[in-house]
Amino acid sequence: MPLRIDILTTFPEMFSAESPAALGVSIPARARKAGVLEVVATDIRGFSTDKHRKTDDRPFGGGPGMVMMCQPLFDAVKHVEGLDPRPARRVLLTPQGKTLTQQMVEELAKQERLLLIAGHYEGLDERVIEELAPLEVSIGDYVLSGGELAAMVLIDAVTRLLPGALGDAESAHVESFCGEQRLLDHPHYTKPREWMGRQVPDVLLSGDHAKIEAWRQAQRVERTKARRPDLIG
Ligand code: ADE
Repeated sequence: MPLRIDILTTFPEMFSAESPAALGVSIPARARKAGVLEVVATDIRGFSTDKHRKTDDRPFGGGPGMVMMCQPLFDAVKHVEGLDPRPARRVLLTPQGKTLTQQMVEELAKQERLLLIAGHYEGLDERVIEELAPLEVSIGDYVLSGGELAAMVLIDAVTRLLPGALGDAESAHVESFCGEQRLLDHPHYTKPREWMGRQVPDVLLSGDHAKIEAWRQAQRVERTKARRPDLIG
């Protein structure tokens, strides 16, 4: 059974499998073809009871921007959840959420079904958030114009952890920056051995696998200390 990911959005065309966008290429495209991932985007507008298919309105109390109304989103969630008997983990993409980490990605990849809600940056009516009680996730401390790109980031990170999504050659990448070992990756080199006067480190040409692994581990630690000391604590 593939992991089913539903996205509720006012821009469902951003998630098309045919378009050469994020989910139409590379690993997500392959995962869909291999039958380990199913992505279904549903337009929240289709659930608006307003004659202009409105999904947002001005904020009570004044201020700039628009607020997504409760009813269309709530009805869309109920409808989409009914399309499949498996319970869906609800996730709202918002800058107010917990910052996405590899650990969260691993947790989400274990679910049978995800329901991603892409809100507008001005926000959703707080009452629908209370009622739906989604996991609120941010992809970083910056503001996007909508949750759609954040949802794609999450889908991409989850997809590469699905069994069968990666080819054998790529599987090794899963080991970097995950689980207990919260370290950055070591540097990588390929042909040619010399490029613009820069040499590949000798150890990588030595054929001594234990030495190579020790060097790579030392590089991971060194890089993490230099670039992301917060990861080591
Ligand atoms: N929507 C707008 N900005 C976002 C962010 N940084 N992460 C998740 N969703 C968002």
